[in-house]
Amino acid sequence: MSARRSLIGIGDLSRDDITRLLDLGERFAEVMSRDIKKVPTLRGRTIINLFFESSTRTATSFELAGKRLSADVINVKASGSSVEKGETLKDTILTLAAYKPDVLVIRHAAAGAVAAAARYTDAAVVNAGDGKHEHPTQALLDLYTLRKTMGRLEGLHVAFVGDVLHSRVARSGAIALQTMGAEVSFIAPPTLLPRGSAEGLGVHTSYDIADIADADVVYALRMQHERMGEGGFVPSLREYATQYGIGHHRLREGQRVMHAGPMNRGVEITDQLADDPTALVTAQVEGGMVVRMAVLYDLLSDPQAVRSADVVSHMVAA
Ligand code: CP
Repeated sequence: MSARRSLIGIGDLSRDDITRLLDLGERFAEVMSRDIKKVPTLRGRTIINLFFESSTRTATSFELAGKRLSADVINVKASGSSVEKGETLKDTILTLAAYKPDVLVIRHAAAGAVAAAARYTDAAVVNAGDGKHEHPTQALLDLYTLRKTMGRLEGLHVAFVGDVLHSRVARSGAIALQTMGAEVSFIAPPTLLPRGSAEGLGVHTSYDIADIADADVVYALRMQHERMGEGGFVPSLREYATQYGIGHHRLREGQRVMHAGPMNRGVEITDQLADDPTALVTAQVEGGMVVRMAVLYDLLSDPQAVRSADVVSHMVAA
């Protein structure tokens, strides 16, 4: 993590950091399978989840993760807060910072807003998704799910398909996967994968959906209507679904499918595939909570304790 022990972009994490967090997530998954699912590790700590943009999975799993670690968790949504009266991001952060939280988990529709917010607080800040920029904990939970399902990350080939242009999931995922030695492709219509949009990421790019044949894992991206405006990025959703929608008809034996949710069924993924038990969508959601527990624990703990092999026993005994 960065010197301030915040998590703003997935590039803040080295390969060792990612491995440590995934290992820690596995230990938390063991604890979550016990009768008593709560550990006292973050008792007395305060976590504020501040969501300026809608969320089901990220908001719920961060709340549950904090509570399972016994932290005091406060949830603030833009809707119903003073943001609706015109309060600025800076004033909102300064206000919440005055309560001396240990962690601020922030989601915002604007790229860069979470990094900007971090300037106004001494708390550790976690980026829970900033516009089309980054979603580092989604990348971590995706790696966690892949490592658990496929048994490895090194040498795996993951193809992200669809609305790459607006996707923080694809950007953070590509960086994280390559850090761990995996290969990444972006496959999309030209309007959703314009020249330069993948520049610097080192991924393969293609406009041809047939190229998913080379991938071990096909990652269907949500068509992000809320970021498209009147853009006319595709002639119609029906045409997009026909040309790039992922269904059983496109997959070869053994290929696995991921989706970060929420899904547009019948657009980027067929109904049948979304409900197929081999799809990893629910496993991703399950991984989200334990990975977010790992991130919160890692941010607020002595790095030496985190490296200890028996960290969960230590926590339970605390
Ligand atoms: N994948 C994801 O970030 O989902 P939410 O928008 O529901 O949090």
